[in-house]
Amino acid sequence: MDTSCPELFGSSTSGVLSSLQAKKEERNERSGEERFPKVYKGAEAFVYIFEDFVVKERRRKAYRLKTFDEAIRKRRTRLEAKMLKRAEKEGIAAPHIIKTSEFCIKMTRILGKHIKPNKVWAERAAHLLKKLHSASIIHDDFTPANLIATEENKGSGKALPSLFIIDFGLAFVSQRIEDKASDLFTAAQSFKPYEGVFVRAYNDEVVEERYKAIRKRMRYVKD
Ligand SMILES: Nc1ncnc2c1ncn2[C@@H]1O[C@H](COP(=O)(O)OP(=O)(O)O)[C@@H](O)[C@H]1O
Ligand SMILES: [Mg+2]
Repeated sequence: MDTSCPELFGSSTSGVLSSLQAKKEERNERSGEERFPKVYKGAEAFVYIFEDFVVKERRRKAYRLKTFDEAIRKRRTRLEAKMLKRAEKEGIAAPHIIKTSEFCIKMTRILGKHIKPNKVWAERAAHLLKKLHSASIIHDDFTPANLIATEENKGSGKALPSLFIIDFGLAFVSQRIEDKASDLFTAAQSFKPYEGVFVRAYNDEVVEERYKAIRKRMRYVKD
């Protein structure tokens, strides 16, 4: 595997797979089980998903000047790690960092499924967004694609699965109403047609006022 942080992957990238791992993969393949790692190639990063951890690596962009490119990737990686640590400290359901290097973050894998908008998820997601904002974290990409519902409570009666927020790649610290309101705007829009449910569950008059102003502006731009 071509990566800038082989030390974060453990043995599975050391060129030749250990015979044990190879056998396990073969078994998985035969039984139709999932194969790891699964790789997501995003615009900014590659995400390698292993059975119980994930490595997110910011890849080089060939069109950027090398020194400039490295500085950007290092800064974004540092900031994302900082935001994840802050979230954990504040008791927010998000991945736990296992290890970091210049361009990579190794974190725990949140086992579950991306949610599909419905009324209950809209409410629960809104509460999670509010909790992030109380910790002065603006996520900036709070959408169902970055929300995972775990299945750990399966079989335990009526308990709902937990809701985790991932991908702090654009997150930053701010207490400004405008930042909270635009974060709320992105999030609520992504929960359509439960946009109203989302905003009501977020339940903050001041932020909601600004949210309405942003929505008006956006309508105006779109028309
Ligand atoms: N810690 C994690 N646990 C489980 N899945 C993850 C984790 N981190 C990323 N993923 C999966 O990889 C995808 C891409 O990761 P993400 O951090 O959202 O990258 P991008 O910035 O490219 O959107 C996510 O949508 C999710 O499906
Ligand atoms: Mg994402």
